[in-house]
Amino acid sequence: EKGTYPHYMLKEIDEQPFVIRRIIQKYQDDNGELTVDEAIVKEVLNADRLYIVACGTSYHAGLVGKQLIESWAKIPVEVHIASEFSYNMPLLSEKPLFLFISQSGETADSRAVLVQTNKLGHKAITITNVPGSTLSREADYTLLLHAGPEIAVASTKAYTAQIAVLAILAAAAAKAKGLELDFDLTKELAIIANVMEMLCDAKEEMENIASDYLTLTRNCFFIGRAVDYYVCLEGALKLKEISYIQAEGFAGGELKHGTIALIENGTPVIALATQEHVNLSIRGNVKEVVARGANPCVISMRGLESDGDRFIIPAVHPDLTPLVSVVPLQLIAYYAALHRGCDVDKPRNLAKSVTVE
Ligand code: F6R
Repeated sequence: EKGTYPHYMLKEIDEQPFVIRRIIQKYQDDNGELTVDEAIVKEVLNADRLYIVACGTSYHAGLVGKQLIESWAKIPVEVHIASEFSYNMPLLSEKPLFLFISQSGETADSRAVLVQTNKLGHKAITITNVPGSTLSREADYTLLLHAGPEIAVASTKAYTAQIAVLAILAAAAAKAKGLELDFDLTKELAIIANVMEMLCDAKEEMENIASDYLTLTRNCFFIGRAVDYYVCLEGALKLKEISYIQAEGFAGGELKHGTIALIENGTPVIALATQEHVNLSIRGNVKEVVARGANPCVISMRGLESDGDRFIIPAVHPDLTPLVSVVPLQLIAYYAALHRGCDVDKPRNLAKSVTVE
């Protein structure tokens, strides 16, 4: 039930801090440490490469997961769009392990790949919000999101839950390999839940950003580097699907290789700056678009901020910034859609779960 909320999407955005706290509870072992089933850890350690397969928002979470698994557990990961994978299968490594990410667990494109990989005899883990769903039943193992039902067509809390569960999987694999992390994941996720709450309290600022940048525009660009780029893909998808504004997520350095031709006077460019090692370069990219007339909206992380940034997110662990930087983008998409009179929870042409290939 959406209770006093005008839309499920807004309710589900607000639920994110609670979902993160629930995930902490559900994945804690007897010693209070975050981990996954031993059998799953074994499969991950046995594999020479992980293949993440997913669609849409779940694919975007997979991109962040790749980053976490590679940098923490030092296991190579490929991320594939399910509908491409099934008709154009990449050359697989000797000991592949498949990771299907699906909120609903019913997405036909992802299931088509699972049917193929099962036939080939490869092991698979499904990360899903729905126990007993098709992808959960047909995979060898399941990791649950514990996000509660997601009703709005635009996925929000499932995305952050997916990233949190992928982080726990990455940390468990790292630990099993003897690669101790130099921080406490439970503590970092608890901080993230608190920061998410602060961001959910910044609705008025996000609504103002939506009015200032998106009320009349026909397009919008999201730029970021490193993991911010992946979050930009998700921010653009959220905006497109519910507000019908044409939006693109771009790697900061790639715009100048063609797409910068689309920047006109007043074109909104939303930039994420949460990563220290690319902060100077993304700032350079913002200058490039401003020089072509763009209207920049920089959302940065505390400690990396510059004069003129529109919004500053309280600092969290640098590897986990997607869990918080996506929240302003979700809210901006929500208010942009609302101001443009769109049906936020049920956008045109879309269904909550896509059960055709
Ligand atoms: C976007 C959205 C879709 C889904 C995609 C995969 O907001 O909801 O892009 O993420 O259809 O769905 P699942 O995760 O159920 O496999």
